[in-house]
Formats: sequence, C-alpha cells, structure tokens
Amino acid sequence: MAPLSPALLDAACEPYRNAGHFAYYFARGKLRTDPVYRAILESGLLLGRTSVLDLGCGQGLLAAWLRAAERCYESGSWPRTWPPAPRVLSTRGIDLMAREVERARSALGPALNISQADIRSAAFGAVDAVVILDVLHYLTPQAQLEVLQRVRAALPVRGLLLLRVGDAGGGMRFRYGQWSDKLVLLLRGRTVVTQHCRSVAQWRVLLRDCGFDTEVTPMSQGTPFANVLLIAHAT
Ligand SMILES: C[S@@+](CC[C@H](N)C(=O)[O-])C[C@H]1O[C@@H](n2cnc3c(N)ncnc32)[C@H](O)[C@@H]1O
Repeated sequence: MAPLSPALLDAACEPYRNAGHFAYYFARGKLRTDPVYRAILESGLLLGRTSVLDLGCGQGLLAAWLRAAERCYESGSWPRTWPPAPRVLSTRGIDLMAREVERARSALGPALNISQADIRSAAFGAVDAVVILDVLHYLTPQAQLEVLQRVRAALPVRGLLLLRVGDAGGGMRFRYGQWSDKLVLLLRGRTVVTQHCRSVAQWRVLLRDCGFDTEVTPMSQGTPFANVLLIAHAT
C-alpha cells in the first residue's frame, strides 16, 4: 500500500496547532495510523454526500480530514489512483466531552458545527450520511438500538451510515482492542465504562432490524485490533 500523502496529513493536522500539543499530536498519530480515514477517501465512501453527521466526533478529526481532502484535491496534490475528494457542504458533530468539543472548536471553528450533547438524546436533524466511529460500544444494547433507529429516521432512502465497531467474534484481536480502549481512557483521565460489544453478525441483524442493508469490510489493517466498518444503506 502506498504511504499516505504527507500533504494531506499536514493539511488535516495543521488546524490542531491552535488546539494545543496534545490535540495536534493525537491528530497526527490517529490520522496516519487508523485505516478508516484513508479508506473513506480511497474508496470514495462519502462521494456524493453533502451533509454529514459525525456522532461521538471527538476532536473533529473526520471534519478536519474531509476539509483537507477537498483542499488537496482542488490544489492538485491528490493521489492519482484515488477517486475525487467528496465535496461535503455541511459537517455536524456531536460529542459528550467538553474537552473534545473545545479542541474541535479551537481547531476548526465554523468548519464543524459541533454540539456538546449526548447522542442518546440529541436531535439528529436530516442528513444524507451519518458516521459513527468507535462509539456505540459505550452505549447499552437498548440505547444502541434507539440511536440506530433515530439515525435511520434522519436519513433518506439510500442514505449512508458508516459504523466502525470491534467484532466481538474476533478472538484475541478483539480483546486486545478492548484493553487498548480501557488504557486510552485511563491515560486520558476518564472513567473506564462497561463496553457493550456485539459480533459482526449481531451488528448486521441489529442494522437490518433498524432498516439498513449492510456490507462489512475489515478496518484494522496495520493495527492489532479486530475492527470492521459496516457500510449500511437505508432501505
Ligand atoms: C473512541 S472516541 C472516538 C472519537 C471519534 N469518533 C474518532 O474516531 O476519532 C469515542 C468518542 O465517543 C464519545 N461518546 C461516548 N459516548 C457518547 C454519548 N453518549 N454521546 C456523545 N458522545 C459520546 C466520547 O466522548 C469520545 O469522544
């Protein structure tokens, strides 16, 4: 696999210089090593989607990534083998943690319409794509169901949900992901909460029951985890 374009990585991380050392170096590490960000562009997953809602958006990395992609594409510093960058007109984010929201605001300003709120109760409005990366395992099974039902209600038919989860059927790699998640929470001074995980097959059943057709693609290349990306279209 060709290395990630340094211009793209630099453009996405640069805004985080306004949000402090931690936010900047976290952005660099995450965007460089987490395969999901590259896959979203390389596979054109958000092409044609103009309004994106990022649930549990953290410090707004997806919005920074999409904005940098659009700029790099327009300026011609874009990998020749990749499809065009998506032209997302509005990106909204919701996150529970004040510190994450503050970092996102310092870095991105009005480029990300972010609210500090709980996705279990916040209004989702109407959008044509929803992205949820590494968040739903913090919610109880009933809350996962309710959030996904409301995600479906926010999307039109053929609207897109990108849901990244750990596959509870993934053996040691899955357990390693759970430990790593707990360690990161501890290092960030956060409470370690119970995780509510499902196997890929169980996620697919839940998504079908909520009104989605789903494809699954592995999403932990280059990492020791058992993560998958569920690419779900509203039926
Ligand atoms: C592992 S981080 C992932 C952040 C981001 N999606 C990413 O991939 O960079 C999980 C995020 O979900 C947020 N979160 C957890 N439960 C939430 C809830 N009920 N409502 C809103 N955000 C929540 C956390 O504050 C945290 O920022």
